[in-house]
Amino acid sequence: MIYHGRRLRRNELLRELKRESRFSKDDLIYPIFIEFGQKKKLPIGAMPGQYRYSIDLLPELIEQKMEAGVKKFLLFGIPEKKDELGSGAYAEDGIIQSAARALKARYGSEILLISDLCMCEYTSHGHCGILSGAEVDNAKTLPYLAEIALSQAAAGCDIVAPSDMMDARVKIIREKLDASGFKHIPIMSYAVKYASVFYGPFREAADSAPQFGDRKAYQMDPHNRREAILEAQSDLAEGADILIIKPALSYLDVVRELAAQVNVPLCCYSVSGEYAMVEAAAAKGYIDRERMIEEIAVSCFRAGANLLISYHAEEIAAAISAGRIS
Ligand code: PBG
Repeated sequence: MIYHGRRLRRNELLRELKRESRFSKDDLIYPIFIEFGQKKKLPIGAMPGQYRYSIDLLPELIEQKMEAGVKKFLLFGIPEKKDELGSGAYAEDGIIQSAARALKARYGSEILLISDLCMCEYTSHGHCGILSGAEVDNAKTLPYLAEIALSQAAAGCDIVAPSDMMDARVKIIREKLDASGFKHIPIMSYAVKYASVFYGPFREAADSAPQFGDRKAYQMDPHNRREAILEAQSDLAEGADILIIKPALSYLDVVRELAAQVNVPLCCYSVSGEYAMVEAAAAKGYIDRERMIEEIAVSCFRAGANLLISYHAEEIAAAISAGRIS
């Protein structure tokens, strides 16, 4: 028997019948960088087209995304001052807390706010937790993460997303939220986060590069796939509701693996370096920008992701609206 694959590829309607994976604008999440001040829209060098915004200019951005059909946002904050204990991360008037209050007052449940929960943007040393000597101290860091979660939930964030990679943090965050009247707030954990060079442009965007060493002692080794299952299972056992895998493109095998292993929503994070590669190659005229953005998004969902965090969320939404992808 010969497989006549071409029979179902002859035209667009036939191809629709054959399509195995689909997604929608509902599945897209757009990351935003926020800092204090007024009238700020500061370009991010290695991420052309992306900016750091002051809170007063956020409505312009949010409404542009909403118009395209993107209503879910991942918030990153850059504090005014950094210190050893990352106090800006859990301050009541911290940048994320202030932004969330302002956005919730204006848009209510029209938008979903997911707060990145980490310390690296807030610590003077740029690491994702509290130090003991030159090491990030897991046990010392946990109560701070719980404090950050509580302050973000209290400010109106709809979901908290711990990205620090400390062991047992989902458990302590869940307990803190439950004990403080926030049982209903989901945890979207960066369960599977690799120590990746693809975060380079983000560290410029969020001013969060480690001042010494690297993050290999807490983020995962890119050689490992089975370990991702362990990380995912332990976060689920501790109470995570949604799992993030990041980066996306180089780790779609991991997405595939987890899709077969767990039954909660899986979210791919197409990170800053992935964005930068597409934009740089497009600026040189080496690739077709739109089509590359579309194919990357399709690949994430085909691999098994249910959700996608992408700096190209608006472009992906536009492609869905135009019927170029589905
Ligand atoms: C915070 C955090 C990082 C990213 C998301 N949350 C940076 C890091 O771990 O160094 C990277 C996102 C991106 O590259 O787009 N810890």
